[in-house]
Amino acid sequence: DANRPYTAAVITLSDKGAKGEREDKSGPLIVKMLEEAGYQVEETLLLPDEQKPLEQQLMRLADQRQISLILTTGGTGFSKRDVTPEATIAVCDRMARGIAEAIRGYSMTITKRAMLSRAESGIRKGTLIVNLPGSPKAVKESLEFVLSVLEHGLGILR
Ligand code: MTE
Repeated sequence: DANRPYTAAVITLSDKGAKGEREDKSGPLIVKMLEEAGYQVEETLLLPDEQKPLEQQLMRLADQRQISLILTTGGTGFSKRDVTPEATIAVCDRMARGIAEAIRGYSMTITKRAMLSRAESGIRKGTLIVNLPGSPKAVKESLEFVLSVLEHGLGILR
């Protein structure tokens, strides 16, 4: 039925986090915001900044688990290890770049450094994938701005 909650998965990309050297604050924050918005969060993952493992998880979550919305956090900047946008582009059938552009546009009103985010957004089969920046502050600002609109897109994908 159309009233069942949308499913979601959250992937944190952080070399330090994956090694247990840094607490992941952004992943849990996204989970909390999604749950408050009525999503059913089915999986959370903490991965190193590596393209192939991220692609594999994105494909598994979309193809096998058929998750409605996958949010990633981290790995969108200029560091050599930042590969989240590349993995996202590699697995999407159709880009939906307006979402990432909207986040950048809004974030630019908060910090000009938002122009350094290479975040992408796109669709694989019935799954929407959106990259968010890495810091909890940036996550909160970005997700608050787009979350209410994502549901309309998910309704069309379902
Ligand atoms: N967006 C918002 N809303 N608020 C922020 O503080 N920080 C920026 C940007 N986007 C920021 C933001 C910075 S400093 C960088 S380097 C890029 O996101 C990429 O972040 P990432 O490498 O953690 O993914």
